[in-house]
Amino acid sequence: MTAPSIVILTGAGISRESGLATFRDADGIWARIRIEDVATPEAFARDPAHVHAFYNARRAQLRDPAVQPNAAHLALAELERRWPGEVLLVTQNVDDLHGRAGSRKLLHMHGELMKARCARCEAVHPWTDDLSTGTPCPACGRAGGMRPHVVWFGEVPLGMDRIGAALDRCGLFLSIGTSGQVHPAAGFVAEVRGRARTVELNLEPSESRSRFDEAIHGPATEVVPRFVRDLLRGA
Ligand code: APR
Repeated sequence: MTAPSIVILTGAGISRESGLATFRDADGIWARIRIEDVATPEAFARDPAHVHAFYNARRAQLRDPAVQPNAAHLALAELERRWPGEVLLVTQNVDDLHGRAGSRKLLHMHGELMKARCARCEAVHPWTDDLSTGTPCPACGRAGGMRPHVVWFGEVPLGMDRIGAALDRCGLFLSIGTSGQVHPAAGFVAEVRGRARTVELNLEPSESRSRFDEAIHGPATEVVPRFVRDLLRGA
């Protein structure tokens, strides 16, 4: 029997033990900052400097050598390397920890903090430093249009066609470290129910818990490596 193809969805919870805050936990980002002020196109039009400051701070934290991929990120990279079937890792996270852990079949559906996009010419550039309204675009040379390459609320997530195709053929769907509150990601499990094995791995039951066949609750650095080891044993 051929190994089923796997689609993995991750959220901020998988990076929590690397020292990055989640969004909706009590100590999460949205507990102290309003989405409307930093994570919408309207916020950027209204006060680009404030939006740049929010993402510059998160990009600076990601450059901190103390922030490293954790055992859960590494376990998913090992699964991709050793699984005899297809694996696609779809992350809602804009941090670069999956890539740094070695995942290659990786799709950042909400964009990437370490990339910038020019709203004038749409060119996307790797970007690890601060951005400001005065930053000129390396491609078209114009200033005033450089923005984080991050998908804001009200914008269309990236890679949806590729995600849909992967969901259509997957036999195993894993959801890791996400509260299951933001669509379209929160709706992926409903798309595969009944024809794929669905497993939630999260610190605690998410809003979507009832849609999963199975749930394993605990810190990602404990439950993910254990789940991957058992999966590879049975491959
Ligand atoms: N291990 C596993 N899960 C954890 C851990 C941990 N150590 N710590 C927290 N979690 C879980 C929480 O229980 C919660 O269910 O991670 C989840 C994080 O949920 P959110 O903070 O809502 O983050 P996420 O689901 O990724 O948010 C989705 O919303 O704000 C937008 O664009 C942003 O991509 C983000 C999207």
